[in-house]
Amino acid sequence: MSQEDIFKKIIAHCKEYGFIFQSSEIYDGLSAVYDYGQNGVELKNNIKQYWWDAMTKLNENIVGVDAAIFMHPKTWEASGHVGAFNDPLIDNKDSKKRYRADVLIEEYLEKLEGKIQKEIAKASKRFGDSFDEQQFRKTNPRVLANQSKMDETKARFVNALENNDLANLKKIIEDSDIACPVSGSKNWTDVRQFNLMFSTQLGSVTEEANTIYLRPETAQGIFVNYLNVQKTGRMKIPFGIAQIGKAFRNEIVARQFIFRMREFEQMEMQFFIKPGTEMEWYNFWKEKRMNWHKALGMGDENYRFHDHDKLPHYANAATDIEFLFPIGFREVEGIHSRTDFDLGNHEKFSGKKMQYFDTDENKNYVPYVVETSIGLDRMFLSIVSNAYAEEIVESTGEKRIIMKIPAVLAPVKLAVFPLTKKDGLPEKAREIIDQLKLDFNCQFEEKDTIGRRYRRQDAIGTPFCITIDHQTLEDNTVTIRYRDTMEQERVVIDKLQGIMNDKVSLKELLKTL
Ligand code: GAP
Repeated sequence: MSQEDIFKKIIAHCKEYGFIFQSSEIYDGLSAVYDYGQNGVELKNNIKQYWWDAMTKLNENIVGVDAAIFMHPKTWEASGHVGAFNDPLIDNKDSKKRYRADVLIEEYLEKLEGKIQKEIAKASKRFGDSFDEQQFRKTNPRVLANQSKMDETKARFVNALENNDLANLKKIIEDSDIACPVSGSKNWTDVRQFNLMFSTQLGSVTEEANTIYLRPETAQGIFVNYLNVQKTGRMKIPFGIAQIGKAFRNEIVARQFIFRMREFEQMEMQFFIKPGTEMEWYNFWKEKRMNWHKALGMGDENYRFHDHDKLPHYANAATDIEFLFPIGFREVEGIHSRTDFDLGNHEKFSGKKMQYFDTDENKNYVPYVVETSIGLDRMFLSIVSNAYAEEIVESTGEKRIIMKIPAVLAPVKLAVFPLTKKDGLPEKAREIIDQLKLDFNCQFEEKDTIGRRYRRQDAIGTPFCITIDHQTLEDNTVTIRYRDTMEQERVVIDKLQGIMNDKVSLKELLKTL
């Protein structure tokens, strides 16, 4: 099955099992806007909790805020978003489809890389153990030709981006013979800049109304509050402020499900530091954040750093943590050294001092900032795409679809099944749920065969299912069945809390960080 097919299956599964629905689906949906269903919201909340606790409970110098989505319009002038938060767009005149010029070029570069990898894979198969990849790369004419095309295009691309040279972006598209995927034509318009912020009106009378923006990042709500928090919380540098909240971007190319949305959620932390220490903290947070991802056990090989060729308008160093999605390695989180760009500009635009008095140094300065910024929806997508698996059950030959979501994040932790609907078994099941429901999200299921109930819980990623049978009434034991191995074990009811605690407690996971 191709990766594209797997991705389609994951999207269909997310809908069928109440993880994600298209927004306003009854009206044919709204492009790149999604709603989370009953299981999706639980998983999302668990991710948030993992992030929030890792930030605020594990670091005594990090506290949280919850700032408003609407902010004074000057905020976005100061942050540079009014002037520089643009994507270069290009239209194909025949299909009338709109694309991001930079994405077209990136996809072309990926294609060239794909061709090189194909040649290498073919040769490696042919030569077996004696294959020397480096030698092959240096000598194979097709690889050399593609590599040289890639290097040349990449150099021109970086140059065009750095200089905001839109004419040259178009020239690269033309010189690379990039065709519209829909019409197949190379009949392109000029490249134009397109601002990604959504605007709306504040106030009831149109003439008096102010244009304001839906925030394109949560970070600015932290910057404008940094002195409020520093003073009221008596925070000493270095310290951090964390926030989880919605952000909005009018993305030109909004596809690939929840990977690129127009309304999404970010989990951001701004770490305020002494100027000159930024590279030290940048490296510190790179490592910390990578460990946070890897601690979930979704495969260390599925993560990598990707340092930016083109820095965002506010940063002097930036890297992405990329995850291997079915659509390839893509960004989940950005770590940016933002210098004093934001606070310095807010000082200029607001006329208010943004300085911190450092008692150790006995001087004032505008702090530098290292930011960690992760997209909650992308994190969600990384989890569901890693979790989705189809397996053949050996004993029955049946296919089962299973979501191997890290147990600690699973929407439902425990499903309790009375074997039958009579003889007091449902009552006993409810008794167990009552004992555990305040610690773990539990579900009661009495319909259908036990096998079918297992399948339903596998499909939403429930790590434990418990069956109550007649023996339970005699000796207070139940059968616990583990999602991933399908192994079953008879245990006394009193042990359930301990078993669950070991396997699904957020506390245990946080201790490993
Ligand atoms: N404050 C810095 C900032 O916003 P960014 O790299 O533009 O940096 C941070 O965004 C993260 O937000 C990304 O790594 C990604 O996970 C998420 N993100 C950005 N745009 C998104 C979109 N349109 N849909 C879903 N997630 C998005």
